[in-house]
Amino acid sequence: MINSIVRKGLLPVLAVGFLLLGQSAVAAEMKCKECHEGQVTSFQGSHHAKSWGDSHSCEACHGATDAHIKAGGGKETIISFAKKSAQSAEAQSKQCLTCHATMKALQFWTMGKHKQNGVSCASCHQTHGGKMAEKPKAETCLACHKDIKSQLNKSSHHPVIEGKVSCADCHNPHGSPTHGMLKADNVNQLCYKCHADKRGPFLWEHSPVEENCLACHTPHGSQHAKLLTARAPQLCENCHSGAHGAGANPDGNQAFGKPTRFKQVFGRACLNCHNHIHGSMAPHDAQNNGEYTSGKYLVR
Ligand code: HEC
Ligand code: HEC
Ligand code: HEC
Ligand code: HEC
Ligand code: HEC
Ligand code: HEC
Ligand code: HEC
Ligand code: HEC
Ligand code: HEC
Ligand code: HEC
Repeated sequence: MINSIVRKGLLPVLAVGFLLLGQSAVAAEMKCKECHEGQVTSFQGSHHAKSWGDSHSCEACHGATDAHIKAGGGKETIISFAKKSAQSAEAQSKQCLTCHATMKALQFWTMGKHKQNGVSCASCHQTHGGKMAEKPKAETCLACHKDIKSQLNKSSHHPVIEGKVSCADCHNPHGSPTHGMLKADNVNQLCYKCHADKRGPFLWEHSPVEENCLACHTPHGSQHAKLLTARAPQLCENCHSGAHGAGANPDGNQAFGKPTRFKQVFGRACLNCHNHIHGSMAPHDAQNNGEYTSGKYLVR
């Protein structure tokens, strides 16, 4: 515990807190207990209470409480994190940031989409009841991101609901400098983290693969196999109009490289032949003059 506090640079926070509030923490909790027994108990079981000891109390998050106690309660007299809080999301998050602002994970909080759209720390984090130690799970995110939920239910999907991949493996929910708050410099760097075999380098590259995996894949889910944005041949024909294939006459010779050799093939199932779609390591095939079986054409 102490080790991780030191590692995260939170030790000064605790030390100062102890000096300023050490005397009053327990006393304050006693005052709250008269009317909020449930919350006092639940807080005592929380990750914060356990790491803080007596150095801080309710006030660290809920702000000054004198007015609240004097008034005998009320929502206006205290910082509340409830749904119907009188304080803005920003004001609520500010309470947490007094201690957490310098954390590396929160470096880009201000430029993140959540902060900018009024999502507060407490929208994702529960701080009473000992759940603190648990990182928010997919359900927390999906309660707001219903469209992502429906994508994850499609036949081909990243196994997020199955628990094999988490939203936070790919996104930093606290914000990041990239589009989509990704946990990498760009889409491809993200995908390579888990699909390193697609990184290459290949002798024969397929240029859209190097450029952006999302030229052909969707990140969350698709009704087409392998998370594809469309099935072949439509997928390929987004870019390869005029290539031999769906539109080509199998007996004709207009669009097919070597019609005699492939005349019985419609070419709809592009991947039957071009099965090294992410790039090929196969050398130039001298025997066939570099045609038919060459890695250049991603066929082997
Ligand atoms: C680390 C910050 C933090 C500390 C310390 C803290 N709370 Fe809270 N409190 C919250 C948050 C966030 C919520 C919103 C509900 C939740 O996260 O569980 C909340 C909710 C509440 C609520 C409203 C209940 C609700 O469901 O909205 C009361 C009352 C409350 N806290 C009292 C206390 C008391 C009393 C203490 C001290 C014993 C305390 N809190 C310590 C952050 C804190
Ligand atoms: C004399 C009783 C009393 C005491 C003592 C008291 N409160 Fe409250 N508190 C209330 C009442 C009443 C409300 C308003 C509840 C409502 O409107 O639903 C309230 C509301 C709150 C809320 C907002 C909950 C919400 O749903 O928005 C928080 C947070 C809170 N109190 C924290 C504290 C803390 C921390 C202390 C101790 C420093 C404390 N209270 C002491 C009676 C008290
Ligand atoms: C959109 C949801 C969301 C919001 C908003 C959010 N968090 Fe988080 N937070 C998470 C998730 C998810 C994790 C777990 C990340 C992981 O597993 O890598 C996390 C982890 C953390 C951790 C632990 C980090 C660590 O490296 O151990 C802290 C501390 C934290 N958040 C504080 C905050 C604070 C403070 C705010 C508000 C300024 C905030 N969070 C806002 C979702 C959120
Ligand atoms: C007074 C300083 C302080 C305040 C205010 C504070 N925290 Fe923390 N927080 C800490 C410390 C210290 C830890 C313990 C670090 C550790 O165990 O590694 C911690 C840990 C956490 C963790 C990590 C839990 C885990 O499982 O590793 C989260 C998430 C978190 N706080 C969120 C919040 C949120 C949300 C708020 C506001 C509602 C908040 N904190 C307010 C000091 C604070
Ligand atoms: C395998 C990695 C991965 C996982 C897991 C993942 N995402 Fe994404 N997400 C992405 C990528 C990549 C983008 C596109 C970013 C871009 O447009 O540049 C994205 C975009 C988004 C967007 C922006 C809107 C949109 O549809 O383009 C939201 C919101 C989002 N993800 C939420 C989630 C949530 C919530 C979860 C967990 C339930 C999740 N993501 C899991 C990779 C992932
Ligand atoms: C309280 C509601 C709420 C929760 C909970 C929530 N989000 Fe969001 N999220 C939003 C809003 C609002 C936006 C901004 C509007 C939009 O892009 O949909 C957003 C935007 C995003 C974006 C898009 C960023 C961009 O650059 O376009 C991603 C990615 C994202 N959220 C991921 C997550 C993840 C991961 C979680 C869970 C850890 C989560 N969200 C939890 C409300 C929420
Ligand atoms: C955190 C690890 C992780 C990241 C990052 C990641 N993936 Fe995956 N991906 C997985 C896992 C796990 C599976 C499921 C593998 C299985 O079931 O055998 C998978 C499966 C896939 C599949 C096959 C889906 C199917 O229906 O068979 C495709 C395509 C894919 N990922 C593309 C991507 C792309 C594109 C990116 C970048 C946007 C990406 N992945 C980022 C972990 C990841
Ligand atoms: C030009 C379109 C295209 C691009 C761009 C593309 N893929 Fe694919 N990907 C495919 C096709 C088509 C399949 C299905 C192959 C099959 O079914 O034989 C596939 C299958 C996959 C699979 C699952 C099967 C396997 O080979 O493991 C993963 C994982 C994958 N792609 C990851 C990526 C990653 C990561 C990137 C970016 C570096 C990327 N793809 C870029 C077209 C593409
Ligand atoms: C996003 C656009 C895009 C998509 C989608 C796409 N490609 Fe490509 N493909 C390219 C580009 C650009 C090149 C490089 C062309 C060049 O160097 O002349 C290329 C090259 C190729 C080559 C090598 C051609 C040569 O002359 O060296 C083959 C074979 C190929 N693609 C097949 C496919 C197949 C099969 C699909 C569908 C699974 C597909 N492509 C999807 C853009 C795309
Ligand atoms: C029966 C196997 C086969 C099928 C099916 C097939 N191809 Fe090809 N394709 C080849 C071979 C072999 C070459 C090398 C051409 C040569 O040697 O003349 C090639 C060459 C190409 C080229 C580069 C030359 C050119 O004609 O532009 C592209 C692009 C291409 N194919 C795309 C596709 C697309 C898109 C589909 C699906 C609509 C498809 N192929 C279906 C075997 C096939």
